[in-house]
Amino acid sequence: MTAPSRREFLRQLSMAGTVVAGASFLLPSCSNAGESTSPGNGTAPPTGQDGRFLLRRAPELAPNGITVTGAPGTADVGGGLMAPVWALNASVPSPLLRMRKGDRFRVTMRNQLPQELILHWHGMAPPVEMDGHPRFAVPTGGTYEYDFAVTDRAGTYWYHSHTHMHTGEHTYRGIGGLIVVSDDEEERLRLPTGARELPLIIQDRRVDASGVPLYNNAGPAMMAGVMGDEPFVNGVRRPYVEVDSAVYRLRILNGANARIFRLARSDNGPFTLIGNDGGLLEQAVSLTSLDMAPAERADLLLDLRNANVGDRIMLRSLPFSIPGSMGFMGGANLQGNAMDLLELRVTRRVNDATTIPTALSSLNLPNPAAAVRERTFRFQSMMMSHTINGREFDMQRVDETVPFGDTEIWSFVNDSSFPHPVHLHATHFRVLSRTGGRGQLFPWEAGRKDTVLMYPGETIRVAVRFTAQRGLFLMHCHNLEHEDMGMMINVLVE
Ligand code: C2O
Ligand code: CU
Ligand code: CU
Repeated sequence: MTAPSRREFLRQLSMAGTVVAGASFLLPSCSNAGESTSPGNGTAPPTGQDGRFLLRRAPELAPNGITVTGAPGTADVGGGLMAPVWALNASVPSPLLRMRKGDRFRVTMRNQLPQELILHWHGMAPPVEMDGHPRFAVPTGGTYEYDFAVTDRAGTYWYHSHTHMHTGEHTYRGIGGLIVVSDDEEERLRLPTGARELPLIIQDRRVDASGVPLYNNAGPAMMAGVMGDEPFVNGVRRPYVEVDSAVYRLRILNGANARIFRLARSDNGPFTLIGNDGGLLEQAVSLTSLDMAPAERADLLLDLRNANVGDRIMLRSLPFSIPGSMGFMGGANLQGNAMDLLELRVTRRVNDATTIPTALSSLNLPNPAAAVRERTFRFQSMMMSHTINGREFDMQRVDETVPFGDTEIWSFVNDSSFPHPVHLHATHFRVLSRTGGRGQLFPWEAGRKDTVLMYPGETIRVAVRFTAQRGLFLMHCHNLEHEDMGMMINVLVE
């Protein structure tokens, strides 16, 4: 960010709690000082069923001329505890948008938040004015019309605010939902649908004594990002869900601001990974754990056909450590801490004849042998700043100009002591190699990716090709506090 905007950003952080003109919009829980005045304080936390609360599903909408309104409100964060949120159409998570490839996408966004708002359809490749670049953010009371053809293949995409310097805050407070696109190729696989398809947004939150989430991006969170020690799925803290002895399709988004999850089952059983950021993989792969950085998606089949009524299987994040990373978040909020995310409670024996497919799709991935150019991007974090090639984001500056249709090799270099999930708009890339750090690629990094996790000391090479749109798009770190502080560049495709 430019010097004045950076100064403004830091001023806002230091004034947290008095940022917003119009005190009626002010959420006590967003501020440092607010922690002692948060509305839940003094109320006994709800206890739930065996200490867990019923998972909810987001309402589903087809984007066929609908309006989504962003506004402050309240939402049930578990067991009836109403907490202040910022939401789209008063729903946390935001409504799931379901569509088919080829549909027309028409959404009017209305902004009734006390800050600017613009929505980005993460993983989709709409025309440039539809992509949610922060230069299109509209003020309080404004609207933005989205109208484009869905050209994306079947997959699990998502949407969130892209307001510069406030993406982390907006997402944490409740603005963000899933997008599910289907197509003929995917339908031929006859994957589980309806109640057997579970869309899951996994997140972490720091909460007060009563369970109300608190957002504080000052202090150590300026370097590590905002993390908490309480699991939330679909906006509900410590959830459970009742399931049949059947095959489930889990469409999982890591919707956290900064936390990386290492997903596994408490019974050590397998998942079948069938897709990720850009839709189906070529081949299904069986895994007992997988890592998910913020913004990454995993499309998993979970076979519970051998389970019995009364069985409980925890979907959890296993503990892990990041060599070379700075641990000064300390204690409960440390990156890599274990977390029990969602308990699956088997309540019904059924017969389910679902076939788990092996061959899924054939992908037309960029071919590194056809690359005509190389670029290198160094990600650095120090002294309360996060930069790419030494610079903070400037809305007006074009950082890279990439010819439409060219295949290029991009190297992401992590020169810092923090992990960075690197995200690119308007296309998907193919991950070619990882050197340093973990020194290998993982099965969940196959196929078409739009976000790739880079540990300290790692260099990741990807093959990139823009074939969908021309115009000014973004590449940034998807640790949302890093992004808000300017770890983002403008990429002009022409
Ligand atoms: Cu989900 Cu520009 O990001
Ligand atoms: Cu994106
Ligand atoms: Cu980062």
